[in-house]
Amino acid sequence: MKEINVKELQMNPMTLIGNEWMLITAGNEENGYNTMTASWGHLGSIWGHGGKSATSTIFVRPQRYTKEFVDREELYTLCFFPEGYREQLAYLGFHSGRDEDKVAKVGLTPVFSDGTTYFKEANLVLICKKLYRAPILEEGFIDKSIVDDCYPDKDFHDMYIGSIEKVLIAE
Ligand SMILES: Cc1cc2nc3c(=O)[nH]c(=O)nc-3n(C[C@H](O)[C@H](O)[C@H](O)COP(=O)(O)O)c2cc1C
Repeated sequence: MKEINVKELQMNPMTLIGNEWMLITAGNEENGYNTMTASWGHLGSIWGHGGKSATSTIFVRPQRYTKEFVDREELYTLCFFPEGYREQLAYLGFHSGRDEDKVAKVGLTPVFSDGTTYFKEANLVLICKKLYRAPILEEGFIDKSIVDDCYPDKDFHDMYIGSIEKVLIAE
């Protein structure tokens, strides 16, 4: 993979995340890592902290094993894949790393680099540093029907905003 400047990125975040999905991964070789599929998230810009304003926002429900790693680590990665990985992503989104080595099961290859983990098969990797975490609150919903639709069990996501520290694309 080769590093590019975040401003060179050419993609549509709505279809990339919402339709093609991504893997949220945190952890490393020494202390373990976990990954899960996500189709909710944002890519954008806020704060300009430390000269970096490009940010990702991810939403992780409390019961996800991956959340333990995202909470523990300073970094998380977002991995996007070429066509042909739908089945693997679906598997990683319906099974928990608590119960099995699901990465080995789907045949993805973890790359332990930059103090975090991403996947060799990805064609785009964003390495992100956590800046902010906050729970989605029921009282914050202006359209209350979303609570019934998306949170029948009241398992509100935690939202994380991370600065995009590094962008890698397949060569
Ligand atoms: C297409 C798809 C999108 C998903 N998006 C999210 C998401 O944005 N946030 C979330 O908390 N869970 C999401 N999930 C559910 C997790 O990926 C799933 O619960 C996974 O098994 C968690 O694995 P873990 O326990 O190993 O962390 C999604 C699942 C699928 C299939």
